[in-house]
This record gives sequence, structure tokens and C-alpha cells, in this order.
Amino acid sequence: MTQVAMIVSAKDGRLTKTLSTAQYVEQNATPFVTVMVDGTLYVAVKEEKRDEEAVRMLAGSIASDLKGRRVERATADVRTLATVNGREAVTAFVEGWELGGYEFSKYQQKKGTKTALVIDGADEREVTLGKTRAESVALSRDLMNEVSDVLNPVGYAEWAVDHFAQTAVDVTVFDRAELERREMNGVLTVGQGSRHEQRFVELRYEGDASKPLVALVGKGVTFDTGGISLKGGDDLSDMRMDMGGSAAVMGAIHLLERTKAPVNVVGLVPMVENAPDNLSVYPGEVITYKNGTSVQVANTDAEGRLILADGLIRAGEWEAEYVVDIATLTGAIHRALGDKIGGVFGEEALAFEMKKVGEASGDFVWPMPMTRAYNDSLKSDYADLKNISTLGFAGATTAALFLEHFVDPKAKWLHVDMAGVMEASKAEGYYAKSATGYGARLLADYTVAVSK
Ligand code: BES
Ligand code: MN
Ligand code: ZN
Repeated sequence: MTQVAMIVSAKDGRLTKTLSTAQYVEQNATPFVTVMVDGTLYVAVKEEKRDEEAVRMLAGSIASDLKGRRVERATADVRTLATVNGREAVTAFVEGWELGGYEFSKYQQKKGTKTALVIDGADEREVTLGKTRAESVALSRDLMNEVSDVLNPVGYAEWAVDHFAQTAVDVTVFDRAELERREMNGVLTVGQGSRHEQRFVELRYEGDASKPLVALVGKGVTFDTGGISLKGGDDLSDMRMDMGGSAAVMGAIHLLERTKAPVNVVGLVPMVENAPDNLSVYPGEVITYKNGTSVQVANTDAEGRLILADGLIRAGEWEAEYVVDIATLTGAIHRALGDKIGGVFGEEALAFEMKKVGEASGDFVWPMPMTRAYNDSLKSDYADLKNISTLGFAGATTAALFLEHFVDPKAKWLHVDMAGVMEASKAEGYYAKSATGYGARLLADYTVAVSK
């Protein structure tokens, strides 16, 4: 028998007509209660004024609850959604719903089945948009969750070519020979100890050529062992997610293309594995970049900034008007802001614009300072810069200051540090206990916002 559920208001007459049911629903402090009445499974939702994120979280919780109960289909109608949330919010509800049913079960025998959602009376375009947004975030999640022997730089670049093959996105892959020709020396150096060759991927989507060019640069470290400056600790499995910034770029460009957004965007993705080997870069070695800047590699675990530098220089060659880079860059941002909000660095007005975009999208960011007085701490005795600061504090700021050296001064640049938010520590709302897919919505919505 098909298991079906009905999403209704907690004040719905079918529930309140029986005193015991009404009391049961009311006594639960949770935003929704599932209850069986006359053979029908109801999801009773408390009426409340909810913002978009609260709607997404609510929908995600219901979807994962019903999935656990093996419910095949749930129905609601637009008026119910409007009543329980204080407004229609169809897109947010669908988005949260689809993500709440997300799982990465490729390597597990037990697999769940999503509960399908039917919203009677909903505008089909709003439903589709919610699905497309969720699909884009799920794409980023899948990439992040994938293990590093499968998603290595070579395989990742091939995936990008395949994924965007039948779309309006043009994908170009630079192999090692091409990287050498183009003097992408950060990517070459960081990846030189890995059995997987380095790659640099460019994704071009020209939805409207008259719009300002936006470059999205994403850190694509498919595994970060630290290199010769080897990481310690018990379980480093999470370091397969060190390509989270690149996953955000993939998800964002997917979303922009699927929604036919009138934007002009290029994704720039350096892909490497940071591995310890006798061929690896050793601390003390110097990288000279295409823009002339030389960098002493003081610590091979500060590798993200070394490859982003090539991406930022490339953004300058593209003459992008807006440049956003995004990376799982520092443990320091995690300690500063926790795991629910990322940090954004750059010119204040731009950073605040991104903060607003993040609030609506669910990918939250908070503006962080570019304290130029700390620039001295990046000075090297025998190169122009070194890749770590000597300060012992403000690690996320000094990483941002390092990156700034590679940004075209004419560009409007922002740097997003998403190291804290790459993974959810528990299943909650529309998040599973795995990769968050952070950044896809943020980058796509920010690109749309600056293209107005
Ligand atoms: N990928 C890490 C940052 C990171 C840490 C991301 C934890 C997600 C969770 C990055 O490459 C790194 O190792 N950063 C170092 C920089 C330090 C050597 C200056 C860090 O934050 O400790
Ligand atoms: Mn590292
Ligand atoms: Zn890293």
C-alpha cells in the first residue's frame, strides 16, 4: 500500500475535532507533529511567521522525517503553506524538502527513498526553481562527499567536461603541459607530489554578454594531507572536502545555467591533491608566479592560497570586473565564526552586499576585516612573500591578505572562507550529517545581484 501523508496546519479541523489529538499536537514543542487520524497520516505544522531559511529548515525536517517512515508521497496546498508560514514560500519549501531528502549512500548497502512532494495549486515555475536550487546544492554536496581516489584532479576535470557537455557552459581543461605553458606555478608546485596530475578547469557561461564579467575562483584540493608539513589527528577523512570551494563554483554555474540567468560568468578551478612524497614541494622552496611575485613555501599545509593565486591571476587575464574566490581555507575562520556562517573578506560595501545575498539564500556570510597592518607578517627573508604569517593569530585575515597580492587592482574582489561550514556535524533541517554544499546558492545569487 502506498504510504501517503498530508501536510496541514496544526489548527486544521480534522485534527482539532478530537480533543486528544488536538492536545497531542499542541503539547509537542516541535514545529511539526506527525499524527495518524482515521487512517490518514497528518503532518501538523504549527502556524508561525517564518523567514525563507526557517521554511527551508521546516520542509527539510519534514522530508527527512517522512523519508524515515518510508512515506512515498506527501501533499500540501499553497494555502496551507501560506497559513503555516505566514506566506506562500513555495520555492523555499520545495528547496528545503528536496535537500532534506538528500543522502550520499553510494557506499552503503542501505539506501533510502525520498518522499515525493505535491503542492496543490502551486505555481509550477516556483516549484521548478526550488528543485533546481536544491539540485545545484546537492551537486556540490555529492562532489564534496565523494572519496578522493574517485574524485582526484584528473577525474574531477573529466567529470566537469561530462557534466556540462549538453549545456550552455563551455568547459576547458588545462593539463600539466598547458599549466607549464601558462606558468600556473602554484598549481604545478602544490600538486607535484601526487600520483594524480594537476588540472585547471575553466567554465564559461555567457547568459548575457552585455553584463559585467564575474569570475568565480574555487579551491579544488581533492585531498589535503598537508603535504610535507603533514597533518596530524585521528580522522582526516574530511580533508577530501577541501575542494568545497570548487564544488560551490560547479553548483553555482549549474544553477545559473539551468535558470538561464542573464549573467556573464567564468569559473576558474585549480585542482590538485596535496600529498607528501619525495617529489613534493619542501618547505623553504620558492614559487615565482606569472605576475612576478615570489613566494616562499614556509608550510606546505597552507596550500590553498598557493593555488588560488594562479586562479586570481587568471581572473585578471580575463579582465573580470567582479572576482569572487571561495575556499575551505583556514581552521582560523572555523574558530572565529563556527560552523553555521562563513567569512567574507574584501571591500566593505561589497562584503555587506554579499552578506545580504547570503541571508536570503541560506549560505550565510559575515564581513571580516582586511587588517593591512598584518601584511608585514607575510614578508619573507628571501622571497617577496611567504605563505604563512608569523603572528599566531588572525589566520583567516592573513590568508585573505596573502590572496590580495594576486588580485587585479581594477577588480571588485571578495574572498569567502568556507572552511567552517563545509560539513554539518549533525543532521538538522535540510542538512544531512555530511557535506553542506555551501556556496552554490551564494555565488549564483551574488552573480545575479551584481548583474542587475
Ligand atoms: N584545508 C585546510 C583548512 C581547513 C581546516 C579546512 C579544517 C577545513 C577544515 C588548509 O589548507 C590548511 O591546512 N590551513 C592551515 C593553514 C596554516 C598552515 C597557515 C590551517 O588553517 O591550519
Ligand atoms: Mn592545508
Ligand atoms: Zn587545504
